[in-house]
Amino acid sequence: MLGPLPAVCYVHARLVGETAGVRRFDLTICDEQGHVLATLKDFAGRTPSAPAVEVGQPRLYEPYWRAAAEPAPGTAAGTLALAGGLPGLRDALAATGMWRRIVDIPEHHDGLADLLAGLADPDGLHFAFVRGFTEPAAFDPAATGTEALEDSLDRSCFAMLDLLRAVESGALPGRLRCLLIHPQDGGEDRPEHAALAGFARSTAAIAPRFELVTLGVSGDVAVPELASAVAVELAAAPRAAGAEVRRTAAGREVRALRPVTDGRAAGGSLAELPLRDRGVYVVTGGSGAIGRVLAEYLARTYRARLVLIGRSEPDAEALEWQRGLAGLGAEVLAVRADVAGAEELAAALTTARERFGELNGVFHLAGVADDGRATDGDRERFAAVLAAKTRGLVHLDQLTRNDPLDLFVVFSSVSSLVGDFGAASYATANRFADLYTALRASWVRRGSRTGRSLSLGWPLWSVGGVDGLVREQELAAYRRRSGMRPLTAEQGLAAFERSFAVDAPWLVPAWGDPAVIDAALADPGSRGNRLGLLPARRPLPRHRSIRRPEAPPTAGAPGWWSTSAGRCPESSSCPPGDSTAVWRSMTTVWTRCWSWRPTHCWARTSPDSVGRCSSSTGRWRSWPDTCSRITRTRWPAGSPSRAANGLHPPGPARWPPLPSPSPSPPRWPRPLPPSRRSRPVRPRAGRRRTSRSPSSA
Ligand SMILES: NC(=O)c1ccc[n+]([C@@H]2O[C@H](COP(=O)([O-])OP(=O)(O)OC[C@H]3O[C@@H](n4cnc5c(N)ncnc54)[C@H](OP(=O)(O)O)[C@@H]3O)[C@@H](O)[C@H]2O)c1
Repeated sequence: MLGPLPAVCYVHARLVGETAGVRRFDLTICDEQGHVLATLKDFAGRTPSAPAVEVGQPRLYEPYWRAAAEPAPGTAAGTLALAGGLPGLRDALAATGMWRRIVDIPEHHDGLADLLAGLADPDGLHFAFVRGFTEPAAFDPAATGTEALEDSLDRSCFAMLDLLRAVESGALPGRLRCLLIHPQDGGEDRPEHAALAGFARSTAAIAPRFELVTLGVSGDVAVPELASAVAVELAAAPRAAGAEVRRTAAGREVRALRPVTDGRAAGGSLAELPLRDRGVYVVTGGSGAIGRVLAEYLARTYRARLVLIGRSEPDAEALEWQRGLAGLGAEVLAVRADVAGAEELAAALTTARERFGELNGVFHLAGVADDGRATDGDRERFAAVLAAKTRGLVHLDQLTRNDPLDLFVVFSSVSSLVGDFGAASYATANRFADLYTALRASWVRRGSRTGRSLSLGWPLWSVGGVDGLVREQELAAYRRRSGMRPLTAEQGLAAFERSFAVDAPWLVPAWGDPAVIDAALADPGSRGNRLGLLPARRPLPRHRSIRRPEAPPTAGAPGWWSTSAGRCPESSSCPPGDSTAVWRSMTTVWTRCWSWRPTHCWARTSPDSVGRCSSSTGRWRSWPDTCSRITRTRWPAGSPSRAANGLHPPGPARWPPLPSPSPSPPRWPRPLPPSRRSRPVRPRAGRRRTSRSPSSA
């Protein structure tokens, strides 16, 4: 306090930080003449949240480029490392006088992190990573194969993963600001480079000393212009992590989202949808949680002929569900194929054409998520998450280029724009999918493809599978910061229908508190949102029992009562995806801890024959860390809903006595239980899980 406060004062408030919805300000209080009377540091406050206003139907948002002011200039690091490039760029950068030295480093170098660590000063390091200017775009309407992805997206991602880990571990000291500079063609992003924006958005919240910014410029940009844009972005004063910038003749722009508010958002009639009675629709991931909702919708509304593609052998339950589709009027062909493998997918599509004579539309839902953090991840795990949404999508497009499709719809995720709790792989994969679908739309306009191309960047679905990895605290923070609520199957389908009335290749449906959503999505890369719109995922504490989300059961549905116990001590040494080792561990170790797991979360063959990492093992990777024993009991069809009456299924008592350790691994009695496919709603810590139910849609 510097003096008494009169009745009328003025306060200058400077935002100095924001975490978990709490904003901190430095305040300066003045009198009417401007004399400073008091200062207050780190004043923390939160806008009292009104009761959630969940209004109407989901709204549609469209990504666009918004004009943005030049960032305030800050101080540059002493050294700029430059990888890749354009002829003359190094000299042009030197001419800006921004850095003491500029060091060229090889564009592809396995020891990139070590190289940069050798250059880092205490005041940090700038890294300009120039990609794609000296080679043609990887994808055009005539392109075949996905080999180009290895040299483009994979390499960039792996380089960033290495750098992120080096910064986090302290091997690379100080602050690292990376600017990925990529070419645009007529304002269109090249997905193989620009997908890194998803990586940038995801890592902004988990790595305070690592900043990744993406800058798109025209492929034929003048080098001096590019050099000054690079200098501006690298030397920008505020923390810039996650910023997605482009420079065009119109100036500096950042990626943002705006609600579709005109009449288009109201949607047209069903008759206007590019779907037809008895249409032949390929649905990859069609046996997944949302896949089932969609398949049932197509069956019920259009008596569709469905080609369901997934990697797993359909089990008894899946076969039963498929028969149910026939009851709704559909014809079903379920084909096993990994969409990331061109030959497998081509064979599956050939089988479909032979059976139905034509293909009328494609829905690409295949995907896996990553519930870890980029800082803990490895290349293999990252690549596994990219597979279906990068290679799989490209194969799907290329292999159907001669089919007269009415539509080509990709189920992507809003995490592409707002980050994915720090895993980075899922957001990058979805961003690729968004951008590739937008590119495909441009090919449709030019006559090289047919059918409406649309990427839907979904928020969480309450029936969701992939994003069912989200933990309770994350879900709470997600709701608070983004204003979004999980979509029910009905809301998802309504948004799906309405999205066809909007002439845009990339839309984000969202439902919840519109004011909060509008504010959060208006500038998802802004400082406040980076801190973050989605919270950073924390590593799971060891020996913690995880409570997983579970869909509410439906009366009469058969299922499996499953319990799991303890932590698997060997799981930490299991190679990622090696579910066999985890299974073995789980059957040999017994400890005191009970939790539910949904029965569909495992490979559906016997543990001895687990040879490949299915999405199940990938999706629930961290779960085996906490479990050592599973018991199973059939929950017979026709049983009353436990949700309705609170009953527990037949099976072990609630808290059974702990058996003593088994000296030898018991033989797994028979193949794993049939899976149920509808998906987790949300984690409910402290409650027992319930068996799954078929989709109610
Ligand atoms: N659930 C949500 O809340 C949510 C939110 C936003 C976006 N999305 C997106 O919506 C889509 C569907 O989500 P979901 O919740 O239904 O997921 P899900 O239940 O896990 O289903 C995903 C399906 O994809 C299949 N799959 C995965 N990789 C594949 C591959 N390489 N080749 C062929 N099939 C593959 C899986 O089957 P196999 O393991 O048998 O191959 C599984 O059936 C995903 O793409 C997801 O990113 C979901």
